[in-house]
Amino acid sequence: MSNSSHNYISLSGRNSSLVIDCNNETPQIIYWRERLSKQSTGQMMDLLRLRQEAPASPMQEIALAITPTTGQGYIGHPGISLHGDTDQWSAAPEISKLETVAANHYVITNTDSSRQLTTIHTLKMDSDSDVLEITTKLINNSESAVHVDWCAAATFPIPSNCQHIIGFEGHWSGEFQEHQLEQHFGSYVRENRRGRTSHDSFPGLIMRTKNTDQLQGEAYGFHLGWSGNHKIVAEKMGDGRAYVQMGELLLPGEIILQKGQSYQSPTLYASYSNQGLSSLSQQYHQYVRSHLIRQTVKNKPRPVHYNTWEGIYFDHDQETLKDLATRAASIGAERFVLDDGWFIGRNDDTAGLGDWYVDQQYYPHGLGPLIEHVKAAGLEFGLWFEPEMINPNSDLFRAHPEWVLSTPPNPQLGFRNQLVLDLSRTQVFDYLFERINSLLTEYDISYIKWDMNRDINHPGDASGKPAIHNQTRAFYRLLAKLKSAHPNVEIESCASGGGRADYGVLAHTDRIWTSDSNDALERLKIQKGFSYFFPAELMGTHVGPRDCHITHRTINMAMRASVVLFGHMGMEMDLRELTADEIVELKAMITLYKKHRHLVHSGDLFRLELPEYMHGLGIVSQDKSEALFSCSLVACSPASLPDQFFFAGLDKKALYELQIIWPTKSGEHWPKASVFNFKTNLPEIDGKQFSGELLMQLGMQIPLLTPQNSLIFHLARIN
Ligand code: GLA
Repeated sequence: MSNSSHNYISLSGRNSSLVIDCNNETPQIIYWRERLSKQSTGQMMDLLRLRQEAPASPMQEIALAITPTTGQGYIGHPGISLHGDTDQWSAAPEISKLETVAANHYVITNTDSSRQLTTIHTLKMDSDSDVLEITTKLINNSESAVHVDWCAAATFPIPSNCQHIIGFEGHWSGEFQEHQLEQHFGSYVRENRRGRTSHDSFPGLIMRTKNTDQLQGEAYGFHLGWSGNHKIVAEKMGDGRAYVQMGELLLPGEIILQKGQSYQSPTLYASYSNQGLSSLSQQYHQYVRSHLIRQTVKNKPRPVHYNTWEGIYFDHDQETLKDLATRAASIGAERFVLDDGWFIGRNDDTAGLGDWYVDQQYYPHGLGPLIEHVKAAGLEFGLWFEPEMINPNSDLFRAHPEWVLSTPPNPQLGFRNQLVLDLSRTQVFDYLFERINSLLTEYDISYIKWDMNRDINHPGDASGKPAIHNQTRAFYRLLAKLKSAHPNVEIESCASGGGRADYGVLAHTDRIWTSDSNDALERLKIQKGFSYFFPAELMGTHVGPRDCHITHRTINMAMRASVVLFGHMGMEMDLRELTADEIVELKAMITLYKKHRHLVHSGDLFRLELPEYMHGLGIVSQDKSEALFSCSLVACSPASLPDQFFFAGLDKKALYELQIIWPTKSGEHWPKASVFNFKTNLPEIDGKQFSGELLMQLGMQIPLLTPQNSLIFHLARIN
């Protein structure tokens, strides 16, 4: 559609068009679906959308505007909710200016001249990925203060065929669990008040049709790029219209705008696909790859990590650490990350947070000797911090008990023995910057694991006001300042695992620690949920100990190693415990990861539709010349032999050579050695050529495997 009439705004990606009608008082999205041709006009849409007066309803239906308001008579969840001394609660800004910044980039200004309030919507569609960025800003020009109770980034109408919800829930060590439900009249609401993105309410939502699956059908995706509190609303109203709204959840009195002050919502990232959920994710992945991942990080292969946490916990001993670094290097690690426990007083999790000085007890000559050893072994060095936190048992707390967020006289809640520093206090911000900056300056540290291990239950600042908003902004500022002082340092976002994963923090960080659970079976679910909005290269995934420390499940090395190939690989266990057989398999996986990381970190992800006892995914290069697929058995098949495995995303007409690259043939888990010793079909298939159409339409018969086994296939196009 062309913007022939200036009162319709049209934004287009490669596959979708979004049209906003600006002819009335308020801007509203009237079309967002498959890309339109030039012959379709806004006037046609208005006619087709005409709704008659409904019985016992307003004579003129209230628009489902980008920011619908109570002042307009809207009785759904409003886009802004305000109060003040007078009638600010009933504000109803009307369109006052439309600006075209560039193609696919518009600014819509709305003014309420009576109450002297302005809202500004900024919309930008990334035409390559079809991801729309949208924010709403609120400005108070009146003499009286305005309390902002809610200012959604946007309100999106959802067509009646897409009223099936995919939401995300979870918990520590079980993040990104998707749940599905059919929308009902009324609201689906998720409110996160934890002061961090959270494990249990990822700020994402997908609306799909009843029949949409991973590989076909329509779906709308929404993600709020914000690491503080948030609210998600998906309502189906009594008049049949449905919408999705997302924004920052504001605590009472958290944002008060004096004359001339403004509040801007976090960015909402929205996208539409009619090619299924995998294609929707590919759009988000492409967006993240071109807009959020730094070029310098993109240019460098993601190094294999060795992280000390599940290997030694707080038991720091330089000789042991040097030994671990040597062992890690010998099997192929490229980066050594010294986790929690290196700073003064940190013998366990009851003390030390805040005192960011190297503990001379364990490191009498500082971190220098260990870092030199690590570097000499050919590894980069990374260091763990948890800057926003403080233990009451720390020198910092003894000197500055007033630096913490609190709501006196309410008692603070115990939560991993730590409290939260008020980052919006200049002294706190400066102290943390000074400490981290000086360590990064003194030592050759190229990586930070930035952790946050508690919720903010009592988020009051020194003036008694709620401070999650300011805390989140100050956290971003601190990251930005450190990044600008040390542009080559990469930062990982961690919050007891995946508790801080969102595009807000990703604007300042380079990797996400997906979950504290290194249990491969749990990881299959967690990593699948993570993959909806994040590409593989951001997903920290480690081979953990044989007996998983969190689930106490014993999982063989072949299975544990198989799940890490599809992310940013690392290891996290006491390497001294590995058997010779385990070392063979681990080394083989590291070699595979190094060989294929370019493909994994740039290709298109296809989550596969498989029966419950199987799990599968594929990564296909953008030109479809190469692919990796994995098929895992997580339980026994209900039949005597498993089902077929249908590949996806290949070039139908092409011929591919299929190689079974996992389990490694030199390791103990190659299927021929199964307990029953049934002959499998694998040797016959390995290395043979198959057409793309057969791989996708006929599929491959999976051999009899015991649960907790994975096969990984490599496909190379040969014509
Ligand atoms: C959190 C992180 C872990 C580890 C510990 C250290 O739980 O998620 O990976 O760093 O803190 O205390």
